[in-house]
Amino acid sequence: NNINEELKQKILDLKKQRNAIILAHYYQRAELQEIADYIGDSFGLAKQAAETDAKVILFCGVHFMGESAKILSPDKTVLIPDERAGCPMADMVDADGLRALKAKHPNAKVVAYVNTSAEVKAETDICCTSSNAVKVIQSIDADEIIWVPDKNLGHYVSQFTDKKIILWEGYCNTHDNIRAQDIIDMKAKHPEAPVVVHPECRPEVVELADHVASTAGILKFCRETDSQEFIIGTEMGIEYMLKKESPNKQFHFASKLLICPNMKVNNLKKAHRALETLEPKIEVDAEIATRAKKSLERMLEVQ
Ligand code: 13P
Ligand code: SF4
Repeated sequence: NNINEELKQKILDLKKQRNAIILAHYYQRAELQEIADYIGDSFGLAKQAAETDAKVILFCGVHFMGESAKILSPDKTVLIPDERAGCPMADMVDADGLRALKAKHPNAKVVAYVNTSAEVKAETDICCTSSNAVKVIQSIDADEIIWVPDKNLGHYVSQFTDKKIILWEGYCNTHDNIRAQDIIDMKAKHPEAPVVVHPECRPEVVELADHVASTAGILKFCRETDSQEFIIGTEMGIEYMLKKESPNKQFHFASKLLICPNMKVNNLKKAHRALETLEPKIEVDAEIATRAKKSLERMLEVQ
């Protein structure tokens, strides 16, 4: 509508004035993906944040993503449209709890999914995202690995290594909503459609999938696979890009509950206000940031 078009123009003008870049995750509302300079999965967004020359980063995503951007580019102003955009899974592990687990397993190396707070990252050896988790685990020189916080992603990567993985009991409420029966029902309705899911899904759901990948990986698979329809097991915000990249294909979401409410608290109005007021800013304590940065940088070095 007209109001949105006006807001978008204002945002683009402010972006120039502020020397800002707009980054957006694939789960963000379409109106935010439309104004983004770069749309990506967690890994792609972290890389962009580390490499950009812009002075200001408007991060349309959840808090841990903005925090990683600030850690990787501490001299830049990092804004988030709404600081209440959190990730319940990231909140399932805290630094004290992780320290206690490390004390029980002194020889273990610690891998943090990027869906963690800066305080937790500071306690870890290396980060990973869903797109590089297998490579990261294979790069680790230790027989025991503590894996925080996603037990489902941890279970998935454990199939690719002989190392002992000690799982934290975290999970994503949104992906957890998909049950194996949902996939079985969808396959009965759409027998020709390959099933593509995110590794945050339950093991029994992952087992039924034809392909398991990060959001960017799901997009790539649907773009490159010669099928007219797909069953999708991830958050619905990805539909915007699926449709944009493959307008003639059909995408059936495995459950009606695949919405991450946290991702949706950001909107165009709040993005505009953030660029106008340069608030809310993401700040990370300097000592924590230094330690967390090592863990993120190790991840960025894994090929
Ligand atoms: P991706 O890294 O695959 O984009 O996933 C981020 C996320 O929060 C998944 O729920
Ligand atoms: Fe966190 Fe799940 Fe939302 Fe991703 S989809 S931000 S893991 S709650």
